[in-house]
Amino acid sequence: MTRSALLELVASSEVLVVGGAGGVGKTTTAAALGLVGAVDLGRSVLVITVDPARRLAGAMGLGALTNDPLDVSIDHLQSLSEGRPPIGELAASMLDMKASWDEMILRCAPDAATAKSIMENPIYGSISSRFVQSHDYIAIENLYELHRSGHYDLIVVDTPPSRNAIDFLEAPRRMEEFFSSRLLRWLTLPRRSRLVSSAFRPFYTVAERVLGSRFLGDLSDFFLSFQSLHGGFVERARAVTALLGAPSTSFLVVTAAEEAPTTEAIYLAHELTSRSLALGGIIVNRTLPDELVTLRSKALGHAIADDPAPYAREALELLRPGSSGSEVPPGVTELGSDQQIMTRVLVEVANCYDAMAVMKERERIQCGRLSTFEDRIFRAPQLEAEVTSLEVLLMLGRALVLAE
Ligand SMILES: Nc1ncnc2c1ncn2[C@@H]1O[C@H](COP(=O)(O)OP(=O)(O)O)[C@@H](O)[C@H]1O
Ligand SMILES: [Mg+2]
Repeated sequence: MTRSALLELVASSEVLVVGGAGGVGKTTTAAALGLVGAVDLGRSVLVITVDPARRLAGAMGLGALTNDPLDVSIDHLQSLSEGRPPIGELAASMLDMKASWDEMILRCAPDAATAKSIMENPIYGSISSRFVQSHDYIAIENLYELHRSGHYDLIVVDTPPSRNAIDFLEAPRRMEEFFSSRLLRWLTLPRRSRLVSSAFRPFYTVAERVLGSRFLGDLSDFFLSFQSLHGGFVERARAVTALLGAPSTSFLVVTAAEEAPTTEAIYLAHELTSRSLALGGIIVNRTLPDELVTLRSKALGHAIADDPAPYAREALELLRPGSSGSEVPPGVTELGSDQQIMTRVLVEVANCYDAMAVMKERERIQCGRLSTFEDRIFRAPQLEAEVTSLEVLLMLGRALVLAE
């Protein structure tokens, strides 16, 4: 097989972060590349997924949400590496926000009592699931921890659906900022000082009326303990940022050949580069076959649509249909002769072909917008159905990494 630049990345990286707009296929391509790394390159790979589609999770044997990586059984798959059986390993996890927060609090708290008081505070439960940016931050935290464990040659990280893909990169810095923010300082002031702090008094009076003093008390207790995590937190946020910028880490931006996700991909690619982060490539997912836009096939499609009769005769000849007396299942009515049916089928196919050619043309236009990244564009084909097996996932991964 010809090694493409993407295959080289899968072969040599320690961390691959897969980002892009929502629904373009981040989770699917992350899993597909991880599978190629294990099966064809013999690496020990972990894929951290965020929100796998149910069927993909099923194909990977991921039943329940778990931060603990589960082994994916790949022994039955055929490796392309000179006919040898796969020598690598694949594990997959599904990010569990609550468990990740708990683990992080335990790691960063100065002592067990502080960790306990944070985790038992009623505010913590809702904050750990709803805290703005918590998804992004926790995803990176989780990656950092697993990378540090040294168990895997390669970790492929799928990123959470953010309002904006850059949020993911900003998460550690934002967490650092939060700790030095005025809001946090105010929340952790003793109640009396808060009341006398005239700037906040109107707010506090309303907040107390609406939320109740009990809730505000919990809130302030929570943030007071939370503040004690500051040192540990900031230190980790920096280490996490360093991991994202390490030479063995690359970013892959996934897009579909449509206007909005391509705009987002271009934006994300530039943002990565401006932050000196390594843009490994842009993956254009769900591409259609090039045959759709060849001159000959286009002409043939039009010719069939214009005058289908001769083509229908020829096709019938080729297919030599069985006797017309073949059994018709209940509910099916045969309307017309074989010749008429074939004509309708061909016209339908020709029209469909034309519509696909239009889509292919749109794809070409969107790919053209990515031309600055020409040498780093990789394409994954549109599959006929959702990914329901590792075999299909592997096929998708190979289509991506194998240069034509
Ligand atoms: N190349 C493809 N061909 C067909 N379906 C695809 C392809 N890539 C992804 N899908 C499907 O699209 C849906 C969204 O993919 P997913 O990987 O979950 O996107 P994201 O993680 O970016 O939100 C899933 O149902 C998946 O099976
Ligand atoms: Mg996803």
